[in-house]
Amino acid sequence: ADDHGRLQSISKIRAIRFSNYEIETWYTAPYPEEYNRRSLLFICEYCLKYMSSEYVNWRHQLKCPARHPPGDEIYRSGDVSIFEVDGRKNPMYCQNLCLLAKLFLGSKTLYYDVEPFLFYIMTETDDRGCHFVGYFSKEKLTTSNYNVSCILTLPIYQRKGYGNFLISFSYLLTRTEGKVGTPEKPLSDLGLLSYRNYWKQTMCYQLHEIFESGSDSGTNTISIAKLSERTGMTSDDVVCGLEALNAIVRDPRTGRYAIRVDRALVELAIAKWEAKGYIRLEPDKLIWTPLV
Ligand code: ACO
Ligand code: ZN
Repeated sequence: ADDHGRLQSISKIRAIRFSNYEIETWYTAPYPEEYNRRSLLFICEYCLKYMSSEYVNWRHQLKCPARHPPGDEIYRSGDVSIFEVDGRKNPMYCQNLCLLAKLFLGSKTLYYDVEPFLFYIMTETDDRGCHFVGYFSKEKLTTSNYNVSCILTLPIYQRKGYGNFLISFSYLLTRTEGKVGTPEKPLSDLGLLSYRNYWKQTMCYQLHEIFESGSDSGTNTISIAKLSERTGMTSDDVVCGLEALNAIVRDPRTGRYAIRVDRALVELAIAKWEAKGYIRLEPDKLIWTPLV
């Protein structure tokens, strides 16, 4: 048991006050001891500073100048924005963010060594400011093909399609870099559910497009490699998406695997997904060039 383990075991934080919400926490985070002693932690929704009392929070709200995350706004469509925050340029904000995220993440994450990471913060804007919805982090220089390190939607915003939006955005960045990527493992249960759903939906849209552009003969050439290139997903994740549609079949005679798609199933999955009315990523609204 390291220091973090010891601090965590005595953490009393049960909920955070964030904007006007009181959000129950799921896990402990290594806040300094004097903060971990409180059952309610106050967090500024704009600069993510954490505070131990209502009074300190009230004082802070009077003087905090922030109304949006630091860094560059690299995407905006309607009231939704994404800010890119560099862990080196805004270490305090990013450390506070990692601590906040840890309250909803069971596995170990980084808290203080934020420099090697970029953070992508999703906000929803109203006349008061840009409200934090969720984020993902991404390693700047990496030899692996991880395109997301940690991803979170605040519980008050979960199951509304925001996580899916963040995942789409992470792949948009990866495609813009001309790469393929996959989330860092291990995934949490919720992470796995969300990614599996995303991989499946993405395959549906790809297959739909291929059907639409295809000849009438009904035979269109698709390959795992082509699907991977078009989506920025790794071949493994493409296969996972196709398997969810029962689209990988083994020819009993040759023993070889082939992609065979039930078009009706694909169209139904798309219709069901679109009926939810979740926000959609508009790739041409991205204003961004890769680091290197
Ligand atoms: N139960 C069942 N299916 C789910 C769930 C769930 N709790 N959450 C997501 N899904 C699946 C569903 O198919 C869902 O569509 P539906 O709600 O219409 O049925 C689909 O994923 C999309 O869900 P979103 O609403 O877009 O996802 P959300 O905004 O809730 O965010 C996230 C998902 C980020 C994983 C969120 O649950 C979260 O922050 N969890 C805590 C932190 C965490 O575990 N992060 C992932 C760690 S792994 C990593 O970081 C690489
Ligand atoms: Zn603040």
